[in-house]
Amino acid sequence: MFKNLLIALFGASMAFGVAAASVVSDMHSDMSGCETCHADGMPSEDGAHEAAACADCHGSMADLVEPHPQHDGMMECTDCHNVHEDEVGQAPATCDNCH
Ligand code: HEC
Ligand code: HEC
Ligand code: HEC
Ligand code: HEC
Repeated sequence: MFKNLLIALFGASMAFGVAAASVVSDMHSDMSGCETCHADGMPSEDGAHEAAACADCHGSMADLVEPHPQHDGMMECTDCHNVHEDEVGQAPATCDNCH
């Protein structure tokens, strides 16, 4: 009986873990916490620290797969990627938002 309870609790925590990890920001927080992107874990006023963090790990738009190179020099990562809402594995923005 006790064993079944432990298994149920373990199952619930696994399900929670999978759900939490499916958002792009949470998947990154698993690396180094909120500091993966935010200085001292707090969002900056202008987003510059966060933009530099993306580039430190991923390189510039020119280095990434399509459609990144076509937008190099004119857009920030966060113009398309809403990291706190997008699900891992999901294309972030529809092209016809802008085109
Ligand atoms: C992958 C990088 C990344 C990680 C990791 C991350 N954030 Fe963010 N966060 C951002 C970016 C970029 C923004 C700017 C708004 C946006 O694009 O969603 C932001 C915005 C925010 C905001 C402002 C929300 C708003 O609506 O203005 C808060 C608060 C925040 N993050 C808290 C956190 C906390 C707490 C953690 C850790 C649990 C965290 N963030 C982890 C990238 C990240
Ligand atoms: C014009 C909109 C747009 C901008 C700006 C953008 N992305 Fe993307 N990104 C996408 C789309 C669309 C996909 C999905 C591509 C696919 O699945 O073929 C994607 C996928 C990705 C992926 C997963 C695929 C891979 O290459 O591993 C990463 C990582 C990524 N983007 C990082 C970034 C970073 C870092 C920046 C800023 C330097 C950025 N993106 C700016 C639209 C954008
Ligand atoms: C500490 C290094 C690091 C930082 C900082 C970082 N990333 Fe990542 N990111 C990774 C790694 C590692 C992966 C998983 C492997 C991959 O897809 O490249 C990843 C994956 C992604 C993906 C693909 C998610 C999916 O659907 O599979 C996107 C989109 C992405 N990052 C965008 C961003 C954006 C936008 C920022 C800045 C706000 C950022 N990353 C900051 C290391 C980082
Ligand atoms: C947030 C707005 C935005 C989003 C979302 C966006 N683009 Fe763009 N894109 C632009 C802007 C601005 C330009 C430069 C002006 C122009 O040429 O239209 C551009 C330029 C381009 C170009 C080079 C110019 C051309 O017309 O040949 C291509 C190709 C392109 N985008 C494809 C895509 C694709 C594919 C997607 C979806 C995965 C996408 N874009 C999503 C804003 C966006």
